[in-house]
Amino acid sequence: MEREVDILRELTAPLLAWYDGHSRDLPWRRDVSPYRTWVSEIMLQQTRVAAVLPYFERFMAAFPTVEALSVADTAALLKLWEGLGYYSRARHLQEAARIITERYGGQFPQTYRELTKLPGVGDYTAGAILSIAFGQPVPAVDGNVLRIVSRLTGSSLDVLEGKNRALFRGWMAQVVPTERPGAYNQALMDLGATVCLPSGAPLCEQCPAAAFCAARRQGLQASLPVRGKKAPRRREELTVFVLLRADGAVALRRREDTGLLAQLWEYPNVSGTLDEAQAAAQLAAWGLTPHRWRKRLSARHVFTHILWEMTGYVVETDGAGAPDWLWADEAARRRCAVPSAFEKFTKELKGEE
Ligand code: ADE
Repeated sequence: MEREVDILRELTAPLLAWYDGHSRDLPWRRDVSPYRTWVSEIMLQQTRVAAVLPYFERFMAAFPTVEALSVADTAALLKLWEGLGYYSRARHLQEAARIITERYGGQFPQTYRELTKLPGVGDYTAGAILSIAFGQPVPAVDGNVLRIVSRLTGSSLDVLEGKNRALFRGWMAQVVPTERPGAYNQALMDLGATVCLPSGAPLCEQCPAAAFCAARRQGLQASLPVRGKKAPRRREELTVFVLLRADGAVALRRREDTGLLAQLWEYPNVSGTLDEAQAAAQLAAWGLTPHRWRKRLSARHVFTHILWEMTGYVVETDGAGAPDWLWADEAARRRCAVPSAFEKFTKELKGEE
């Protein structure tokens, strides 16, 4: 145990010096507040910096304060989030904003215990907020940091196991510096994103830990971190209908209140892969008359635990369809968040009007 902590402690000074010359210029770093740190860290979960950048600026313009977010129209919030994925993050942000506004008078709590009680705020995000916005020496251990710790210490413990992650977090808690803890945590993020790369060869010649990295010394960079077996994704087949009315309206319906992509809008769909005859029967069951079958296409979307294999039909129809559908014109579609799992079908509508 001590050996690992010693190696990690050796990293601190060279890492901070490296960060001073190599930190990425990012909007949430230029102007730091607990609110901006929180929103950026939530957006950055499972999501690349480049993908987050345009969303972050738009979010801050639309909801400049935690109070503004707490009273925002949820549909508008979800529409702004459209394409970023993991939509429960947006809903949790708003629930947490309400708690911060109502219970804490709009001021962020400054303890790990209180922060981790907020919806959507776990160990990592609490550590990021405390260190970056409040200067507290708390680690922020995400997948990047687990990779760096594995390689630096040469540990072959499985980073997908909770107890190993807790062990790594415990090591990091012992070495986060009291001076510049926010810079330290963000330096690890940048090192993980630009040098200690997850796939392909890491750029060890550029690394401030090159002289004492156990993985480098032993040539183990490619085999660390160890990631044991995940449960395989569940595969689901789906047939999706892009139904166009002569007036340009498209059928949308709202997903269930809970579960995958809860409350977002989607094109009507059924499970299974329907051939054209079965698809025609499905339309008839919905009370729709197809006039023209424009296109059959396929698409897949990978979620964390589920894989969707989709077959889509673009059909010109008339009829009412199911009572809970919305026949959405262009203006309505600008308000309805349709997740990017359906992006290929949404693209079929571009140029429609
Ligand atoms: N990834 C997660 N948090 C980040 C941050 N604050 N800066 C850059 N990349 C990050």
